[in-house]
Amino acid sequence: MSVLSGKKILLGVSGGIAAYKTASLVRLFIKAGAHVQVIMTPASKDFVTPLTLSTLSKNPVYSTFFNQDDEDEKWNNHVELGLWADLMLIAPATANTLSKMANGTCDNLLVATYLSAKCPVYFAPAMDLDMYKHPSTLASFKALENFGNIIIPAESGELASGLSGEGRMAEPENIVAFLEADLESKLPLKGKKILITAGPTYEAIDPVRFIGNHSSGKMGFDIAKSAANLGASVVLISGPTHCVVNHSFIQVVKVTSAQEMYDACHQYYAEVDVAIAAAAVADYRPKNVANQKIKKAAENFVIELEKTKDILFSLGENKKQQFLIGFALETENEIENAKAKIQKKNLDLIVLNSLQDEGAGFQKMTNKVTFINKDFKIEPMELKSKEAVADDILNKVIAHFYE
Ligand code: CTP
Repeated sequence: MSVLSGKKILLGVSGGIAAYKTASLVRLFIKAGAHVQVIMTPASKDFVTPLTLSTLSKNPVYSTFFNQDDEDEKWNNHVELGLWADLMLIAPATANTLSKMANGTCDNLLVATYLSAKCPVYFAPAMDLDMYKHPSTLASFKALENFGNIIIPAESGELASGLSGEGRMAEPENIVAFLEADLESKLPLKGKKILITAGPTYEAIDPVRFIGNHSSGKMGFDIAKSAANLGASVVLISGPTHCVVNHSFIQVVKVTSAQEMYDACHQYYAEVDVAIAAAAVADYRPKNVANQKIKKAAENFVIELEKTKDILFSLGENKKQQFLIGFALETENEIENAKAKIQKKNLDLIVLNSLQDEGAGFQKMTNKVTFINKDFKIEPMELKSKEAVADDILNKVIAHFYE
């Protein structure tokens, strides 16, 4: 999944021949899952039509402060557009538009929106080679870079003038790759490795039967997705679930039993920065597993169980650099039991689920949790979707590294 997925991109198109390439650019952004709004300078409409970019972006295209055609919405609000965006890209950025941006010359909607935008701003210059090298253009680049704007350098090749050299707007594919690489490098968990357990475990009774539980795995998978979207590289060790994930930062390790989950966790634990145990691991397993299917015979049938290894406890015992997060599912004396688990399992943070809360727990789309840290600071959270709870958990991880 692209880091651009879900991002709100404001594309400012200024009047150079490379404007025709913005059709492909918008298409690539939409394909990557981004939301796109386009602002055009009046001159750019000679090179690509608003209808093309509006059709591709699935949004109206803005070009003037006033909307001539729409009686109800006469005013195109540049402040709103600027605040809407997660990132703004000026492509192509002509020498004229760059100079206006550098000097705050606010005589069109594009520059007005640029001045109102609080998000990161990228610009992809496009002009003839001598214009590209002119001290005036270089001064604009410098001023914009000093403002914190990011240049996507022009490429070399044949230019519209017939000359050949530096000045071509970067190809749309290269602009997308540039933005993805830049955004990825700035993700807060870039370079961090996170181990996550998810789902139930199944403990075999015989070749066809097992002891399991109702865990859907959703909470652990949502945590994995949230961590990966923040740039972490994730090892997701999952018991049997129907959950699926497809993210280049997530490696899924499928296991069945508590013992397999224990072995997989210890295979990766030494090298991770964070471990989050969201799995509902069986506490007991049949002491003897029958080789053949057990036939129906006596009226009563007793299965002797033995304890499984407590994976989280063993991670706490071996803790070095890892920030260790556990879950607790309690039905009584919740806070006290959760605190005891923090100490017993040497945790940094526990996520307490209470089954007394409506909408929380197994097989639900929502969860209501309370965070308790190792200093016993208690933080009850609202009932939220599991995705939002996952984000809250990752915010705790980010706070651990940055506060
Ligand atoms: N856990 C684990 N390995 C086990 C049992 C539990 O890693 N064999 C982890 C769970 O993933 C969870 C935490 O321990 O993060 C607490 O699980 P919970 O079922 O609430 O507690 P238990 O330690 O099993 O204690 P009890 O069932 O007695 O409450």
